[in-house]
Amino acid sequence: MEIITTPQQMKDLSAARHAEGRVIALVPTMGYFHDGHLALMRMAAEAAELVVVSLFVNPIQFAPGEDLARYPSDLVRDRHLAETAGVDVLFVPTVAGMYPEEPRTRISVSGLTERLCGSSRPGHFDGVCTVVAKLFNLIQPDLAIFGRKDFQQLTVIRRMSADLNFNLKIISHPIVREDDGLAMSSRNSYLTPAERNVAPCLFRALQKAQRQVAAGEKDSATLRRKAEQLINSHEHTTIEYISIVDASTLVDQPVVGPDSLMALAVRVGSTRLIDNAFLMNGSG
Ligand code: PAJ
Repeated sequence: MEIITTPQQMKDLSAARHAEGRVIALVPTMGYFHDGHLALMRMAAEAAELVVVSLFVNPIQFAPGEDLARYPSDLVRDRHLAETAGVDVLFVPTVAGMYPEEPRTRISVSGLTERLCGSSRPGHFDGVCTVVAKLFNLIQPDLAIFGRKDFQQLTVIRRMSADLNFNLKIISHPIVREDDGLAMSSRNSYLTPAERNVAPCLFRALQKAQRQVAAGEKDSATLRRKAEQLINSHEHTTIEYISIVDASTLVDQPVVGPDSLMALAVRVGSTRLIDNAFLMNGSG
């Protein structure tokens, strides 16, 4: 596995591989790998001849007061894990490399970014879209893989990519979970043992909603209230939102239909966790 640290080297390597006719897959990440990240990498290795993983904690997607300064990292471990997952190139740029000057350009996808995580994280999706567009431009991947854990992010990036005519296919990967249902996340490392114990309540609330829908309950307000009760019955939890939305438009749905997604964000202690699930077909 090759480690590349400058955008120019990355650009040159990608261009050379493209000239050889190789299919390139990109998996953008912020590192501190877990099995969710590794599953995306393995999927990329199945689908492409050259797998590039970017590891960059992107400062412009963090609002002041968020966890940028303490975001976990372990490059030695990440290198090893990426190599075992079949990654060919690990692109680890510096902040100065990616943003040599104060970036004045932001990519903003209206209509999909105002609600859900966007309402409590102003500017977050602009920061995500901007860095992902930069990575697409530098690496020119044929396909890019994103996890459905960050469902809104996936939806926003798909739309950005279509709107801006990026010439690549966006592929999504299902949510990878711990045995007790907690969606894997680099931020799970912030949880104290007591908080870690209650954290699977997000998934349990989603499963309960799926069961209620299967039993005939289609009223979103009722389903949301039940999920709220379940989560509030645990210590350390503060609900940020529980929403039932159409999975393609992310617009609130008062009545559950085939494309309804329940999405939630909950603080467990001081750690913000997100999760989601389709309500009718049970997939995540
Ligand atoms: P990060 O949180 O490191 O996630 C990188 C990718 O892994 C994202 O596509 C995310 O959806 C996926 N992922 C994380 N946990 C997952 C899980 N449990 N199951 C399935 N997929 C999972 O998301 C980001 O980084 C950044 O915003 C980024 C897109 C890299 C832009 O900076």
